Amino acid sequence: MTIRLQVVDRQGNAHEVTVVPVGSLMEALRELEYGVAAICGGMCSCATCHVYVDERWSERLSPRHGDEVELLAQLEHRAEHSRLACQIRLSSQLDGLRVRLAPEE
Ligand code: FES
Repeated sequence: MTIRLQVVDRQGNAHEVTVVPVGSLMEALRELEYGVAAICGGMCSCATCHVYVDERWSERLSPRHGDEVELLAQLEHRAEHSRLACQIRLSSQLDGLRVRLAPEE
C-alpha cells in the first residue's frame, strides 16, 4: 500500500510523491532530491527537517511533544503549523498530507 504526499519545495514548486507509509515523514522527505537534510537522523535535535503542515492537516497529526516544542521555539522561521518531520509517523491516514519545506535556518 502507498499514500500520496503533496510537497512544496523551497522554491515553491509543488510535487506529488508516492510513498509506502512506514517510518517518519522525515524519512520520506530525505529521499527527495529537493528534500530535507535530516542531519541528526531523527533524534529531534537538528531541525533540518522543519516543515509547515497545511492547516487542514495540522490538527489531524499527533500533538507535538516536549523536545519538538522546545526545538521549534528556537527557530527563526517557526510558524503556526511548523512541525519537525522526524516526529510525524506516516500511516495510511495521512494519504494526501500537504507540507511545505521550511527555509534553511
Ligand atoms: S531530523 Fe533532526 S530534528 Fe528532525
